[in-house]
Amino acid sequence: MKYPTLAILIFGSALFVATGCGEQKAEQQQVRKNVQYVSGPDEVTYRRIGKEVIDTVQATLKMNLVKAMQEGGPVNAVNFCNTKAMELTDVYSEKYSTEVRRVSDRNRNPQNAPNEFEAAVIEDFKSMLASGEAILPKVAIDADGKKHFYAPIYTGGVCLTCHGDPKNMQPELVSVLDSLYPNDKARGYAVDELRGIWSVKFKNS
Ligand code: HEC
Repeated sequence: MKYPTLAILIFGSALFVATGCGEQKAEQQQVRKNVQYVSGPDEVTYRRIGKEVIDTVQATLKMNLVKAMQEGGPVNAVNFCNTKAMELTDVYSEKYSTEVRRVSDRNRNPQNAPNEFEAAVIEDFKSMLASGEAILPKVAIDADGKKHFYAPIYTGGVCLTCHGDPKNMQPELVSVLDSLYPNDKARGYAVDELRGIWSVKFKNS
């Protein structure tokens, strides 16, 4: 075992979560210390490939989203996001031998909840954003030696159609979202906020 301490902390934090909400903060702080960011040549390489991967996935997602919006408005586009977005990320994952995910601390689909490491990266990005620093994508290494690439996802104007204040959304859209995502946390965003992150795992690294 390369990182015994890490294993203990992860196991430990799983116990914390099980004990209830009051311990959540302790869990986050512990895990934060354990994201091992990489610098040097590996950072340069995986940042480059990671960016290539997410640029491709993002461009395809956006193109399809815009098309779905034009064809049938936001309600139709929600159905696209719900059924197709995951499939698309899967296709590209296969092509590049990566696992590509979009995760958020305020997720709409609970399947897009961050793991401990992703949650720590989101916290790091948020504090950089708060202090006015430019957020550069990050490369990290896990306990198995696999590399991960993390990049911020910001809100733009168009995103608010479905992630903004429900008062400004079409009532029909709100009711579709309500029924598909009873625990939707991805509302009430403004522009230029951190909506989430891209999380790319290089399976063969
Ligand atoms: C037409 C409505 C719609 C628009 C416009 C939209 N989204 Fe979403 N978004 C959704 C839905 C629905 C989901 C849940 C998809 C799923 O079930 O996996 C989602 C999920 C996400 C997720 C995954 C994390 C989560 O909350 O589950 C991210 C990140 C995200 N959207 C970012 C954006 C960004 C950035 C924009 C603007 C470029 C945007 N969205 C525009 C409807 C929309």
